[in-house]
Amino acid sequence: MKYTALMMLALFAATATAAEDVLIARMPEIFAKAAEHYRALDAAATPLKGAGDAKEAVPHGAKPHGDRRVPHGWNAKTGKLDMRSIYWWTSGHFPGSLWYLYEATGDEFFKDRATAWTETLAPNSKVTDNHDVGFIMYCSYGNARRLLKTDKYDALLVETADSLSKRFNPELGLIRSWGALNEKREFLVIPDNMMNLELLEWAAKAKGGDRRFDEIARSHADTTMKHHFRPDGGVFHVLNYDQRPGFVGVVQEIRRGQGRSCETAWSRGQSWAIYGYSMMFRETGERRYLDFAAKLADYAIGHPNMPADGIPYWDFGAPGEERDSSAGAVMASALVELARLVGGKKGAAYRAFAAKQLLALSSPAYFSEGDENGHWLLKHGVGHKPANSEVDVPLDYGDYYFLEALLRYRESGR
Ligand code: GLY
Repeated sequence: MKYTALMMLALFAATATAAEDVLIARMPEIFAKAAEHYRALDAAATPLKGAGDAKEAVPHGAKPHGDRRVPHGWNAKTGKLDMRSIYWWTSGHFPGSLWYLYEATGDEFFKDRATAWTETLAPNSKVTDNHDVGFIMYCSYGNARRLLKTDKYDALLVETADSLSKRFNPELGLIRSWGALNEKREFLVIPDNMMNLELLEWAAKAKGGDRRFDEIARSHADTTMKHHFRPDGGVFHVLNYDQRPGFVGVVQEIRRGQGRSCETAWSRGQSWAIYGYSMMFRETGERRYLDFAAKLADYAIGHPNMPADGIPYWDFGAPGEERDSSAGAVMASALVELARLVGGKKGAAYRAFAAKQLLALSSPAYFSEGDENGHWLLKHGVGHKPANSEVDVPLDYGDYYFLEALLRYRESGR
């Protein structure tokens, strides 16, 4: 018997109440354990880098800014924390998780440490050589301004939005994800780029911002919607757009990128897209984004290779291989938001699916105990399987979206 996405959703809705009750009841314990882990991570990282003090923060006489580092992951072989440059695409996630723990616990320790780590990221506001500044600055400074109820970081965030918007090509209607601003041979776009639009949407409405940022975000979302997905809603990873006169905007090449193949859907990419289009509906009220987010979510939830616990394999075309807890966490966070936006029975079913994912992620199968995972929360993340990089490891962004999903879930109530 072939299950359709709608039948699956109805099935989940039926078991929703029990899973939701358990999740709500378990939340204080999950946040308490997460707080313990992040105290340990911060303690392990701080003697190395002394975040928040530019001079102290740079060990071994390294260059200021350029060699500032932020916790990213863990090397199981050496047992050492993996610190990455503040320019690495995930550098906003560790500070962002500290902000979420401040929100979850109210503990001033997390506010202080989140502030210190966040403020090491400032030089990113001028970066124009990649699209990740949205991830980096909005997960850190974006949460800082929201939770501190301050506008002291607004100018920096608007400057970042301006830097990101320099990557927009009006002829193509797209932001270039990777590559130099003036690269002529290729114009590469990935679905992850949808996540960076949230900064633009915020900046469009901010004091000192510009409506142009909203136009850029909509244009990118609409053009991506046209080309980046198969008719069934499965995502491609890398598209290379033509820039030659007469061919402008034509997709000249599809690359598998971090996915298994050009015929399958990379799980985290699918999650980024569900999240991005849900966010675009929240920010613009344009119905087409909501309908599209639901289509992408239905593809994932109803996929025959979706495991029973809702945590996808690293690619929808790789059943039996590694799961990607980060894809599950991003999807759960997106689904909690989508549930609220969609409402009704369909919304309840998305929420129930997210509850199931969050229960799985907070179970011993994924949630770490003691130092078995270098104190990062989630085990079993997959960074880039085709490159054999970061396979079955903790990932800072997995933790970030897991905490965000829990908070969104708690916030939106029952
Ligand atoms: N944005 C890169 C990734 O999801 O791996």
